[in-house]
Amino acid sequence: MEDLIRVENLRKEFPVQKSFFDQLFAGKKKGFVHAVDDISFEIKKGEVLGLAGESGSGKSTTGRLLIRLLDPTSGNIYFEGENLADISSKDIQKFRSKMQVVFQDPNSSLSPRMRVGDAIGHPLKIHTDLGTEERKRKVMELMERVGLSPAEFLYYKYPHQLSGGQSQRVVLARALVTNPEFVVADEPIAMADVSVRAMILELMKELKEEFDLTYLFVTHDLSTAKYICDRIAIMYLGRIVEIGNTRELFDNPHHPYTKALLAAVPVPDPAQRRTEEIPRGEIPSAIDPPAGCHFHPRCRYATEACSKGRPKMKEVSPGHFSACILD
Ligand SMILES: Nc1ncnc2c1ncn2[C@@H]1O[C@H](COP(=O)(O)OP(=O)(O)OP(=O)(O)O)[C@@H](O)[C@H]1O
Ligand SMILES: [Mg+2]
Repeated sequence: MEDLIRVENLRKEFPVQKSFFDQLFAGKKKGFVHAVDDISFEIKKGEVLGLAGESGSGKSTTGRLLIRLLDPTSGNIYFEGENLADISSKDIQKFRSKMQVVFQDPNSSLSPRMRVGDAIGHPLKIHTDLGTEERKRKVMELMERVGLSPAEFLYYKYPHQLSGGQSQRVVLARALVTNPEFVVADEPIAMADVSVRAMILELMKELKEEFDLTYLFVTHDLSTAKYICDRIAIMYLGRIVEIGNTRELFDNPHHPYTKALLAAVPVPDPAQRRTEEIPRGEIPSAIDPPAGCHFHPRCRYATEACSKGRPKMKEVSPGHFSACILD
């Protein structure tokens, strides 16, 4: 399979004002959040790549960088072989229509004063020169396809008149109306009621096939990732610590952090329960991350060597990489 996206040594730092005491003792005025700390990976055409990890690990920042909602501090992103950094601001609009994003909270991403049909059709207004009638026809067609039925009726509703599941379908329809190739889904079902989660997930799977989509699926929930992702990248404090085929990652996890995350996933059968401990302690700050392997202060296998130097990514089985010196 061909790469749709290739990411090389991507880094994003956000400046932060240090506290008075830090300024006094460290003498530095500015600190940086290392939100994304030198990551490389590729996403094949038609693939669903999951990005999983605890809160603050840099998943959303990575998603935003990939669709150019944020500019990287350094590193390169190639979309169909073309370096995004080389695309002029004039041509970036064209690229933008090929990449869309679905956020977790449909209510905050929909304008309360815009009718559903107009909201879905809005990207067509920006990215195409279709007339009003054509736009409406396209929107209605898509509404029916994503289960917003009868479209004729729902087209004129406002977001507050919809159920949570319907709102998420509106957001999906709006993301797909320009026929994108790549969709970043950032915790798309996290806010949804349990009863609609499975339905939305199933719909996303179907739409992927029907529209030839490629997804970056951001989630902190590994059971969701297992259901929809072909491959999963595990992030910890801005770095990818393990990446591989979903099946392989679940059956044969290598990195202690991945093992700990998997141990935290509820398993119905007690005999299948893993014995690995959930990592103790809070996730450290991405402002002053621990030296060496970022995970070592919470890792039960950590040795002296783990606090020195960044562990290299090693291929532990074909296409399966882990960044732990014990591998
Ligand atoms: N605009 C910003 N300015 C400063 N810091 C930021 C900004 N956006 C993100 N960060 C910081 O970067 C780090 C990574 O954040 P990010 O939102 O990418 O994490 P996440 O993995 O998506 O977390 P969550 O699971 O909670 O959504 C965090 O420490 C966060 O506080
Ligand atoms: Mg996030």
